[in-house]
Amino acid sequence: MRFERLTVEGRVVRYAAAGDVRAQQTLLLIHGFPLGVRMWEPQLARLAPLLDASGVSRWRLLAPSLPGYDGSDGMPQPSMHDYAAHVLGFLDQLDVSRAVVAGLSMGGYIAFALLRQAVQRVTGVILADTRSGVDTEQVRAGRHRMIEIVTNGGSKAAADDLIPKLFGPTTKAARPQVMAEVRQMIEAQSPVAIVDSTRAMLTREDAGPLLPTLNLPALVIVGEEDTMTPPEEAERMASALPRATLVRLPRAGHMSNMEAPEAFNDAVRRFLPGTA
Ligand code: MLT
Repeated sequence: MRFERLTVEGRVVRYAAAGDVRAQQTLLLIHGFPLGVRMWEPQLARLAPLLDASGVSRWRLLAPSLPGYDGSDGMPQPSMHDYAAHVLGFLDQLDVSRAVVAGLSMGGYIAFALLRQAVQRVTGVILADTRSGVDTEQVRAGRHRMIEIVTNGGSKAAADDLIPKLFGPTTKAARPQVMAEVRQMIEAQSPVAIVDSTRAMLTREDAGPLLPTLNLPALVIVGEEDTMTPPEEAERMASALPRATLVRLPRAGHMSNMEAPEAFNDAVRRFLPGTA
């Protein structure tokens, strides 16, 4: 993947881009925990050319790394609010005033924080394998364990812990290469960034009350085999959002955009024209 870079408030931000730089419309992709921008490869590689070829509209895809990921500069003790402000600052640098915002899992939590800060800049939202509520006690305990695991064992230990949870049984049985790619993505990230994100997730706000106020096109996507943010969560979010479409992807777990890339991209391709 080719990374580009720019500077937001003195911090270097690495990012990937695809599609037409002159495009009027932007799809912003916010990555999940603790993966970095490479997780969006199936969308960056395949979605942009297909959208252009359809002749419906021309889109630019932008996928910024969060602070500390992919060799981007970190920021001290970031919160979800800070991550969202970082993404908005990134859009400002590229003169993008409005975008469709897509986030997978933690990327969804950041999308909610961004909507709280600047809903007027969002023309549509894609929430993939994420949840609006705060963590259960069990998840909170898991996050404290993750901080310990990463502090002692680095990003490899994070990968060991997460890999069994991120994928559905179909991918585990039939697509080991996807799991190997994700392992590499996690192992390449800095332990500091992983711990920072874990702490940021622990202190995030409940986005439940926000949902009914979001009068904008929304696409909720979930892998049917997702056990981290299961389909029932997606159903709850979709029914609380005034203008949502729910798409359940068979044979995909939590990493639905990588596990079922064609079906994921089809859902996005159908959704985008309605956000113009
Ligand atoms: C993610 O994929 O971003 C994480 O699963 C989010 C989380 O742990 O809540």
